[in-house]
Amino acid sequence: MNKYMNFRKRTAVCGELRPENAGQIIVLNGWVDSTRDHGGVIFTNLRDRYGITQIVISPETQPELAARARELKAEYVIWAEGTVRMRENPNPKIPTGLVEISASDFGVINTAELLPFEISDEQLAGEELRLRYRYLDLRRPALQNNFIIRSKAYQIIHNYFAENGFLEFETPVLTKSTPEGARDYLVPSRVHKGSFYALPQSPQIYKQLLMVSGFDRYMQIVKCFRDEDLRADRQPEFTQIDVEMSFVEQNDIISLAEGLMVKLWREILEIEISAPFRRMSYREAMSRYGSDKPDLRFDLELHNITDIVCHSEFSVFALAAAEENGAVMAMNAKNCASFSRKTLDELTEHARKYGAKGLAWMKFTDGTAQSPIAKFLKDEEISAIKAKLGAEDGDLLLFGAGNWGKCCSFMGAVRLETARKSGIYENIRSKFSFHWVTEFPLLEYSEDESRYAACHHPFTSPMSEDIALLSENPATARAITHDLVVNGYETAGGSIRIHDNAVQQTMFDLLGMSREEAEKKFGFLLSALRYGAPPHGGIAFGLDRLCMLLCGSENIRDVIVFPKTTSALSLMDGCPSDVSAEQLKELGIMLAMPK
Ligand code: AMO
Ligand code: AMP
Repeated sequence: MNKYMNFRKRTAVCGELRPENAGQIIVLNGWVDSTRDHGGVIFTNLRDRYGITQIVISPETQPELAARARELKAEYVIWAEGTVRMRENPNPKIPTGLVEISASDFGVINTAELLPFEISDEQLAGEELRLRYRYLDLRRPALQNNFIIRSKAYQIIHNYFAENGFLEFETPVLTKSTPEGARDYLVPSRVHKGSFYALPQSPQIYKQLLMVSGFDRYMQIVKCFRDEDLRADRQPEFTQIDVEMSFVEQNDIISLAEGLMVKLWREILEIEISAPFRRMSYREAMSRYGSDKPDLRFDLELHNITDIVCHSEFSVFALAAAEENGAVMAMNAKNCASFSRKTLDELTEHARKYGAKGLAWMKFTDGTAQSPIAKFLKDEEISAIKAKLGAEDGDLLLFGAGNWGKCCSFMGAVRLETARKSGIYENIRSKFSFHWVTEFPLLEYSEDESRYAACHHPFTSPMSEDIALLSENPATARAITHDLVVNGYETAGGSIRIHDNAVQQTMFDLLGMSREEAEKKFGFLLSALRYGAPPHGGIAFGLDRLCMLLCGSENIRDVIVFPKTTSALSLMDGCPSDVSAEQLKELGIMLAMPK
């Protein structure tokens, strides 16, 4: 008989049987997770996405069945029929652990070759191998659970926005480049040789145009594409929950977003998070935590001690204090005086990676300050520092000096690394901290290009009280922005937009874009703004990052079914890949490979 015909359809799934099903005759379908032959009895664990059920065969009374069961290999697909009964040795680790199936018959639906790695959450094979065989890795219960959570999240999100009167749209994927700060992925046009579409970095312009059309509440769960350097929380294609609203203020967008977070955490994790979330300005986040996305599950705050050490004999501090925009920042790592010399060197190395010239430290033990820089500091200076940072015996103080912004940034990196080294993370794994960072600078100066670039994107509105600054001192103008930070991850970002053609034009001027260039790139937006654009604003959530948090993972690849590596490769299907000479010719493309 053709083995593929040997299939009996399941009447139950592998995760559902409980004591109340005892006595029922059922058929299961699934994958052989493991088979154990104990001589007197053969146990087979059958697995599907719902769970695992133990199937039992007794060689003494079922010799033919037992002989066939001994042939079973891991990952064979089988059906098994039998009676549900209570287990003699319950397994409290699995939901079906109180029962088992006494098999009356089973059949192999399909065999499996020896797998390149074992399907096991406990013993993970190397990630490269697992990515190559992603469809097999996806059989792991832990990964399957992530996608069950992700799927649940889609439902909750769609419902939430529908309940709030939002309409869903699909904006184009073959688009004109929308600048979000990263490089575009380009798609050549065959019909218009030499012209290119760009894959959207976000549907930003389209959603704004939909506001001009009058669809005052837009949402879309949408793929975005960015050719940028990848990290553990970044992928070249990722998913946004994209939202735009008309006739609103920033508070409306913020409370809508908070409502979604409350609902997701409640319905997926059964955790009640309290809203409204704390808000802090970009400046506060930078000066207190050295980051625009601070992890607030722990304190470890930065303190500005410039005024204490501005006349210090330690030249590093005195020089930094004398610099324009210079500062000396310090933090108190509680109970970290036990850090070894090696650990302190590692912290210094870490600070250097983030642009520091060095990192100074001071330990307090037995009432005395121990530090390579202590000899340069007066007793009054040490006492004042100690008082400002609330330092006690057992504490370690860390100091950074230099340009305020750069100093805050590298001290922010030192803050996280110190938390990692001191074991703080072990105690906060199950904690969640949600907060908003607002009032980002409108512009940032790009040294490379000798011009301003938009901090968020060029359509973001300046704060009304800062509009005058656009002509006087653009670098200090703040924007009406809102970033949602969860556990130190930038989970969403948005803004109130410019809805006035003249302000938009000023913004393009500030970005160093000539009128012709602005017209060529964004003429359609500029003209839309002339035909009755309502005030509007919005936000986009990184759905992958949200799922990562909901799944308790620190790797974005754990929540993307077919992810790319950090070098933007898909190891499974081997893309990006060559294309044929004919394809290139049709597109009018000639390759000029770098040597
Ligand atoms: P922004 O660029 O801040 O805003 O992106 C919004 C959110 O998308 C997520 N995100 C990413 N996730 C994974 N991989 C990436 N490479 C990646 N890049 C961004 C982040 C981020 O907070 N159009 C604006 C939104 C708006 O103004 O409404 C935008 O795209 O979680
Ligand atoms: P140096 O004078 O470079 O030997 O540095 C003396 C001490 O100051 C060392 O502990 C350095 O790590 C520290 N140090 C140097 N530059 C800085 C800086 N910008 N901020 C904080 N500490 C620094």
